[in-house]
Amino acid sequence: MIFFSTTKMIDIVGLLDPQAKTSTGKKLSLHRQLVERLSNAILSGRLPSNTVLTPSRTFAVQLGVSRNTVVLAYEQLAAEGYIIADQHGTRVAELRLHKSSLNQSAMLAETKLAERWNDDKAIIQTQPRGTTGLLAPGVPSLKDFPLAKWKRTLERAVKLLHPFALVTKDPLGEFSLRQAIATHLHIARGVQCEAEQIVITEGAQHALTLCARLLANPNDTVWVEDPCYSGAKSAFSDEQLSIIPIPVDNEGLAATTEHWFNQRPKLIFTSPAHQYPTGAVLSVARRLALIEAAKNVGTWIIEDDYDGDFRHTGTPISSMQGLAEHSPVIYIGSFSKTMFPTIRIGFMVVPKTLVSQVTRVVPQILQVSNQLQQIALAEFMTSGEFGRHLGRMRRIYRERQKILKTELTRYFPDDWVLGGTAGMHLTLRLPSGVDDRSVAQQALSQGISIDPLSSFYEQPTANNCGLVIGYGNTPRARIPSAVGILVEIIKRENDSWFGLSACAIDK
Ligand SMILES: Cc1ncc(COP(=O)(O)O)c(C=O)c1O
Repeated sequence: MIFFSTTKMIDIVGLLDPQAKTSTGKKLSLHRQLVERLSNAILSGRLPSNTVLTPSRTFAVQLGVSRNTVVLAYEQLAAEGYIIADQHGTRVAELRLHKSSLNQSAMLAETKLAERWNDDKAIIQTQPRGTTGLLAPGVPSLKDFPLAKWKRTLERAVKLLHPFALVTKDPLGEFSLRQAIATHLHIARGVQCEAEQIVITEGAQHALTLCARLLANPNDTVWVEDPCYSGAKSAFSDEQLSIIPIPVDNEGLAATTEHWFNQRPKLIFTSPAHQYPTGAVLSVARRLALIEAAKNVGTWIIEDDYDGDFRHTGTPISSMQGLAEHSPVIYIGSFSKTMFPTIRIGFMVVPKTLVSQVTRVVPQILQVSNQLQQIALAEFMTSGEFGRHLGRMRRIYRERQKILKTELTRYFPDDWVLGGTAGMHLTLRLPSGVDDRSVAQQALSQGISIDPLSSFYEQPTANNCGLVIGYGNTPRARIPSAVGILVEIIKRENDSWFGLSACAIDK
């Protein structure tokens, strides 16, 4: 037992302040203050285990408070396990944590995440992503979203909410939304599916995680495109899959017989309609070959159709899912681009042959929370509002893309500007010698949030430098000046760069 004099106890605890307030401006009672002071003193080791506390009557007199205040504080501390009150007196409990170990663990918790986050590649965004930044890839035009209509749809969904829905929901997602998505996909993307095949997720990223969990075991091999959407790689590595980068050329994923022979995958991740980030469209011949080979060896293809609703040029190629009967394809989609990023609704379409197993397993591993938004989105789609919104956005994006392309090709050769058949971004190739990460960093400091192309490659080299430039959320009038700033930064990075000056002078 340790005994401190009453004076020492007062030194440790300090005098209480009858005027003290909480952080929200409410009065802080004397008993609450005493509880906080004593518990802090115990946790910091100033009142070590087995210290006998001053009897309540004496302590109250010395503190200038009523005895009841001290009794109440002691009772609360006893109830929380800080102190023990029995026939041997009121004393500090054995908490095992002493001062140094407490301080150390607090420091570690503040400064260290799990080891897997030590690898820079594990962090999806290569730079802080501000949706307000100019030319930010992947951000839809937020000003053009019909927010008032969406609010009214949400209000109707709230009114329709049945008390039953407070405890029960379909684990695969609101059926009305699954029906609306099935209809939309059939018409717009050539996807062949029934509502039963659709699982609602919290975004496409979540659907990727779900695919990895449902269709692969740890250490199985997954092919990803190289360059690749980094969120896909992080979803697969989180599930301990072994990632094999497969090169992408201007016809999309370029898998060879050697790849199939030496590194046969369990899963293949591809964005065939508009490869992210190069914008390449996977040719029909390659689609069919991929489907055929995958079918033969029991591989699943994950088709990420993240922006297929915004097709701008060329004949639409049907989704891989709908291209051949019994394709081993899981089609995934998202409303982040067609509606707005924080809606966090995406989906996966599983083959009919998997429906009963998925229906059995998914409820064990999936708890999607945005039920009200799902109900509202279903109505938004069936009322035709979604279709009208897509039509408007397509026109806006086409115009913005045209302006961006015109501006870029004022300074750079046409064939350095990649993509453009769909979506909300273009990719500008840069010659080796221009550090694209440095360009992106400098651009960010001027309010422009582009992504460096090299950051999407598994093994970035000087030969795969470029910039991924979005036009979705940048008004047409601001595109030329933003491109002008980029050109200045690139010139500063490599002033002696012949291509840039020659091209700019030529035009
Ligand atoms: C190619 C690609 N796939 C999937 C996603 C994920 O979409 P979501 O926001 O629905 O998770 C993104 C997001 O930017 C993307 O760029």
